[in-house]
Amino acid sequence: MASSTTLSLLLLLLLLPFSHSTTFTIINHCPYTIWPAAIPGGGRQLNPNQTWTLPINSTTTGSRIWARTNCTFNNSGHLHCQTGDCDNLLQCQTSGKPPNTLVEFALNQFNHQDLFDVSLIDGFNVPVEFTPVKGCASSGARCAADVTAQCPAVLRVPGGCNHPCTVFNNEEYCCFSGNCGTNDYFRFFKSLCPGAYISPSLETGQASTLTCPSGTQYRVVFCPN
Ligand SMILES: *[C@@H]1O[C@H](CO)[C@@H](O)[C@H](O)[C@H]1NC(C)=O
Ligand SMILES: *[C@@H]1O[C@H](CO)[C@@H](O)[C@H](O)[C@H]1NC(C)=O
Ligand SMILES: *[C@@H]1O[C@H](CO)[C@@H](O)[C@H](O)[C@H]1NC(C)=O
Ligand SMILES: *[C@@H]1O[C@H](CO)[C@@H](O)[C@H](O)[C@H]1NC(C)=O
Repeated sequence: MASSTTLSLLLLLLLLPFSHSTTFTIINHCPYTIWPAAIPGGGRQLNPNQTWTLPINSTTTGSRIWARTNCTFNNSGHLHCQTGDCDNLLQCQTSGKPPNTLVEFALNQFNHQDLFDVSLIDGFNVPVEFTPVKGCASSGARCAADVTAQCPAVLRVPGGCNHPCTVFNNEEYCCFSGNCGTNDYFRFFKSLCPGAYISPSLETGQASTLTCPSGTQYRVVFCPN
């Protein structure tokens, strides 16, 4: 009796610190160094094969993880990245400068579900795969193709491929109305990354937003292939 109470108390104490956070294991399988960033979560340097274990508050919404590339600190300690830069800070507090491949998520939403997708709404820089580690039937989301290598010239920038909205900023490509239809650029992204979010106009039928039960743990792999 006494020992089972002690055991229950011990289990409770062990579980408490974890019950309000979801662990994201972020892995760099690229042959080059990246500087992943997370909101919330900050950012850090990740050399090839290194892992960043990031606990994120389970009630968080509008969250994102992305990679920055080709970063260097200048003499006054500001970080300058070729893609994904966030106001020259190592610890990001704002979204990255396009282009960058995005993992987006909202935890513990309606019906205790986590919602997530891989999005090309801010373009593409590094291939990524987002998968539940355990506790969910979904196989996750990915954009693993080398989009930059095949990027149309008008969208291409050093280190990445812009979404056409970033370049043209008009209704056709930004789809402010939600029903702008499709076009050659959307088809280009869709052909390389069929599961990724590209435009609200492409979301009917084959929606890119996936769900897992709240409490699921996740893995983010950059350069999964
Ligand atoms: C990363 O790990 C893979 C597989 O274990 C290995 O082949 C590769 O050489 C490693 N890369 C670096 C930079 O350590
Ligand atoms: C999670 O976020 C909520 C709402 O912002 C906050 O009240 C709570 O203290 C946070 N929990 C942890 C473990 O950070
Ligand atoms: C470092 O970068 C910051 C932000 O771009 C800039 O304001 C500052 O002048 C730079 N410092 C040096 C020494 O180049
Ligand atoms: C970093 O910049 C160099 C020089 O512009 C380029 O060759 C290389 O591909 C870039 N690396 C990444 C990961 O984008």
